[in-house]
Amino acid sequence: MSQKILYTNNISETITTLAGEMDPAGTFIVTDTNVAEAVLPRLSLPYPVITVAPGDENKNLTGLTSIWSRLVEAGATRKSLLINIGGGVITDMGGFAAATFKRGIRFINVPTTLLSAVDAAVGGKTGINFEGLKNEIGAFAPADAVVISTALFSTLTDEEILSGYAEMVKHGLLSSEADYRELLGRDILSINPDALLPLLEKSVKVKERIVIEDPTERGLRRALNLGHTAGHAFEAQALHKGHPVPHGHAVAWGILVEMILSNMALGFPSSELQTFTTFLKANGYGCPAVSCEDYSELIALMRHDKKNNSPSEINFTLLESPGHPVIDRSASADDITAALDIFRDLMQ
Ligand code: GLY
Repeated sequence: MSQKILYTNNISETITTLAGEMDPAGTFIVTDTNVAEAVLPRLSLPYPVITVAPGDENKNLTGLTSIWSRLVEAGATRKSLLINIGGGVITDMGGFAAATFKRGIRFINVPTTLLSAVDAAVGGKTGINFEGLKNEIGAFAPADAVVISTALFSTLTDEEILSGYAEMVKHGLLSSEADYRELLGRDILSINPDALLPLLEKSVKVKERIVIEDPTERGLRRALNLGHTAGHAFEAQALHKGHPVPHGHAVAWGILVEMILSNMALGFPSSELQTFTTFLKANGYGCPAVSCEDYSELIALMRHDKKNNSPSEINFTLLESPGHPVIDRSASADDITAALDIFRDLMQ
């Protein structure tokens, strides 16, 4: 699965040229109300806009149905084209709308957040949440093209930049020690768009390489779950407690927990635990509000992760060292409890 990925600051021209080359029977933009207000006026693209409510809570059947309905009303055909402009919610749900409308129409993703540029917009995972379960319904369907512009990131908050950068650090850890060290050496919130672009391109290439080899996550692609087994548990627990945290922050904490498990299971160097903790603290990733009373819920959440092969095991991607991931490792509840204790000691 190879995708056309274009890096540009001539966003409108690139999109209209791409769309023109694809010669569609009708082109539609899918976006959310926030992006429609803050970004679309800057682009002035000549296509009708399908707008959905923003946020992960609206990545659901209602949002999806509203996109399908607008396409039907507008007489879209199998030759129509969707242009999904937004964060991960829009590229996931717009991508799934395209993958299923008339059994599949073409689509272009234009990520407006660093997080979606480095992760959701690339690699062909599309879907919606269902019955309270994240991404429960979906399809592997790569965008025909992804248009990435760092110019779109100028209005992101520091929190949104940090959140996306955590996924870049994950890619660095999967790819090589040098890439990882390069990412750790930056003062994230001071990086200008020109300096960010080569780091971002390198990071997206890591994901592309993995996805080309294993598009449907039979093996190698599971490496991309580094930090996510523990990270999703932190994210879900924070949401239940009514204090949602950004996805990337939870992944960053999850990476530290999984580095600790890697240290216990694979001899991942202890000095690296300290290095990564220092990076998290120096860049303001904060710390989850977790006490030992939260462990059983966190472990239960990890047990329900859909990436587990059976309910009795909790599956992780671990690391022998930076640049050397090991997929399909399981850890016991006792190991995870010990890792969470060490995590809290490091982060305090
Ligand atoms: N976000 C992980 C993946 O695309 O496989």
